[in-house]
Amino acid sequence: MELTEILQRRRSIRRYTGDEVPSADIAKMIEAAGIAPSGSNLQNWHFTAIKKRPLIKKIAAAAEGAMEDIAGRLDPVDKTLADKFRKFSSIFTFFFADAPVLIVVMSRAPALTGFKEMEMAGLDASRLYKKSPGMQSLGAAVENLLLRATELGYGGCWITSANYADTRIEAIIQEETGFDKPGYYMAALLAIGVPDESPKPLRRKPLEEIMTIVE
Ligand SMILES: Cc1cc2nc3c(=O)[nH]c(=O)nc-3n(C[C@H](O)[C@H](O)[C@H](O)COP(=O)(O)O)c2cc1C
Repeated sequence: MELTEILQRRRSIRRYTGDEVPSADIAKMIEAAGIAPSGSNLQNWHFTAIKKRPLIKKIAAAAEGAMEDIAGRLDPVDKTLADKFRKFSSIFTFFFADAPVLIVVMSRAPALTGFKEMEMAGLDASRLYKKSPGMQSLGAAVENLLLRATELGYGGCWITSANYADTRIEAIIQEETGFDKPGYYMAALLAIGVPDESPKPLRRKPLEEIMTIVE
């Protein structure tokens, strides 16, 4: 498949057939992630791919528990917002419970170049957080992974909407796999499988809106 075709074919897939994803294919996806560029070549990522159904369900239950904790506290304050949160989560988060593969993406935040220097020079360096090279590097790796998945005939969805359940999910991963890389935290989940849907085309911003060429 040509790169342009892979770029166009990649869509967020949230429904999967029950077909198995061989571990060799998962390894190819993670290998693609691993060759992404990263600030100072720090490769600040780790991917835990889970195929074990009961473990995927356990993580989904932990995320649902965290969501319900938040929604339950919000109920007396703003019931409409709480219910909206529940509804959003049921559509855009918990579908991962039925994915054949769930990848827990871990990252760590490298030091921000110039941060210490600016602070010591008496300047406000807080805006550097918004441009976090660590997160930019992780985004490159995740996109590589999803593009390779597309090339192999799979579909996936990048999920950050379960990040409020991060500490619960990290504890499960630690307990089940012994993962203990210092400084690493959960940054996203990826649900992967053989697509069982063809999403409608989404409107993209016209090129003129996102591009400026100065000649
Ligand atoms: C950083 C990031 C986080 C996302 N988080 C979620 C999510 O939590 N749940 C979800 O269903 N989709 C999530 N998506 C998918 C986006 O909704 C999707 O990429 C966007 O609507 C464009 O659709 P497409 O991927 O099919 O082109 C996320 C995408 C990105 C890049």
